[in-house]
Amino acid sequence: MRYKDEDLITAIDIGSDKVVVAISEIDDTGSINVIGIGKSGSKNGIKQGVIVNIESVVSALTEAVEQAEIQAGREISSVYVGISSANIETINSKGIVAISGVDKEIRENDINRVIEAGKAVAIPMDREILHIIPQAFTVDGQRGIKYPIGMVGTRLECQIHILTCAISSIQNVMKSMDRAGLIVRNLVLQNLAAAKSLLTEDEKELGVLLIDIGAETAKVSVYHEQAPYYNAIFPLGGYLITGDLSQALKISYANAEKIKEAYGVADFEYVEDDETIQIPSIGGREPKYLARKNLVHIIRPRVEEIFSIIKNDLIEKGYFDKISGGIVLTGGSTIMPGMAEVCQEVFDLQARVGGLRRFAGLGDEISGPEYSVINGLLLWGIEDFNKNNDFLGKPKREESGKNVFQKIKDMFGELF
Ligand SMILES: Nc1ncnc2c1ncn2[C@@H]1O[C@H](COP(=O)(O)OP(=O)(O)OP(=O)(O)O)[C@@H](O)[C@H]1O
Ligand SMILES: [Mg+2]
Repeated sequence: MRYKDEDLITAIDIGSDKVVVAISEIDDTGSINVIGIGKSGSKNGIKQGVIVNIESVVSALTEAVEQAEIQAGREISSVYVGISSANIETINSKGIVAISGVDKEIRENDINRVIEAGKAVAIPMDREILHIIPQAFTVDGQRGIKYPIGMVGTRLECQIHILTCAISSIQNVMKSMDRAGLIVRNLVLQNLAAAKSLLTEDEKELGVLLIDIGAETAKVSVYHEQAPYYNAIFPLGGYLITGDLSQALKISYANAEKIKEAYGVADFEYVEDDETIQIPSIGGREPKYLARKNLVHIIRPRVEEIFSIIKNDLIEKGYFDKISGGIVLTGGSTIMPGMAEVCQEVFDLQARVGGLRRFAGLGDEISGPEYSVINGLLLWGIEDFNKNNDFLGKPKREESGKNVFQKIKDMFGELF
């Protein structure tokens, strides 16, 4: 047994706003049953997705883990962690190898070799590879092959998506986990975790843009022909909207946050003409009243700006024409009514706030847009688990007995 809590899957999302922990059991059918959830404010330990104060993060982690453990009635020791970083970079690279052997059949070893070859790009000293994801294979010029094992050919090419981030981002996450007494089973870029929970196979095939707008970051992913082609993280999030409300209404940031969450709206479609809201005043003065549609005048320009920055970046990087399948929105900031409408107008593409996978047990509590990362991490964990165990949770004994297609599928599962 590698971990004391091997029968559990625990996910941790370290967001700029809050740290969330979800503990789940694996039921007899190999599905997730959520048994404990813990949340703690990030206590200024995370700014724009990046750890800036280890003490604060450790304290938030400890608090959230304890809550979840009490609810679950179990102690945890190992976790799946969603990582963010200020400057992730994506490289789409290509590896090429010759197929040797008399029968010229492509074997697992050839896949490893071609991925190794594709990996051989210059990565700066201060960066580390976080994920390597095969996009598609080409066998003797025939493109778009997903599972080449067993095929015959002389030349195998593989396009791969490499995600790198600053080594310091990884080190700070590992250090925080270690200080909180947790072993990291897998470190997953938050963009990929959310995508696992939200994107359908059809969307990924056709081409889709995923935007996760949280408290202080907007995470962007482009999928096309089943694979990721672009991932980016922008320092744009709900804090900008709260800041605008605070300035425009001359109220504290904390009150602006309350107003935003209770009445915030990005599109006129969601406001009645005669709706008024109460704005708290400072210094014991009488509260003010405001037509709710005025909030749209304050909020909408900022939301348009956020989507426009993302759109322009995609045009500049050449990915805009790959997203004809539309846009999926997620993250706490997309709870606000009207976000999908504004997005749709800016991009001139279909947009919707994505629905997450529903899990058994306490699963409903982590089914809102602000839980897409935690939700996706649990799915990541269950896929790992089902790869290594049979349906009754017993470790699979005969790894070599698997057929080759299953093996390559497993490998893709791991890499994706
Ligand atoms: N009803 C609501 N209307 C508008 N915004 C909301 C609402 N509920 C939550 N938010 C915003 O969602 C944000 C938190 O979202 P989320 O939990 O996805 O962030 P996070 O994961 O902690 O941060 P990040 O991903 O940026 O590091 C906050 O800015 C909060 O104001
Ligand atoms: Mg987040």
